[in-house]
Amino acid sequence: MSARLVVLVSGSGTNLGALLEACADESYGATVAAVGADRDGIEALQRAEQAGVPTFACRLSDYPTRDDWDAALTDAVAEYEPDLVVSAGFMKILGKRFLEVFPTVNTHPSLLPAFPGAHAVKDALDYGVRITGATVHLVDAGVDTGPVIAQTAIEVFDGDDEDSLHERIKVAERVMLVDVVGRMARDGWQVIDRRVRLG
Ligand code: GRF
Repeated sequence: MSARLVVLVSGSGTNLGALLEACADESYGATVAAVGADRDGIEALQRAEQAGVPTFACRLSDYPTRDDWDAALTDAVAEYEPDLVVSAGFMKILGKRFLEVFPTVNTHPSLLPAFPGAHAVKDALDYGVRITGATVHLVDAGVDTGPVIAQTAIEVFDGDDEDSLHERIKVAERVMLVDVVGRMARDGWQVIDRRVRLG
């Protein structure tokens, strides 16, 4: 049986696109049941619609408090009964209630714990690191602090700007995310002392 994914997005959705492509092959072991966003009118939602996947948007500004938004997002995602939630470029911190209900993985464009937060690629460039990359991790209550599942390293080239570096990271990030989510869907996972074991 295929694991049900809900994918959360905020932007262009190339990671979502890679997951949708992988899910088209039955042997991958997962299906995108729905795609949720924190805003309307983004390319990622168009990708989902083109693939015939249900979408929803849950905007923080539509709720009086962050807790109300958290509850609404939890309810919206729960409708699709996911086995796993994938935060793929979702630019909001998920709330306590949400994380109590759904196992969630996030993909982040740096080698955590270096450069957490929303400007990871710029922060890595500004710092002057020669190697950066991407991390897929389980989401906990902190900002990009959850147990690491997989990482991929990318060299910073002389002359890189934020866009060129991020594009190179994203190519490797998509491959890693698809690999990790597929393994979690097919084989399960366990966490012992912050170490994530797949299968
Ligand atoms: C990815 O690099 C992700 O790690 C970061 O934003 C980017 C999203 O890209 N948080 P996309 O929307 O999947 O194309």
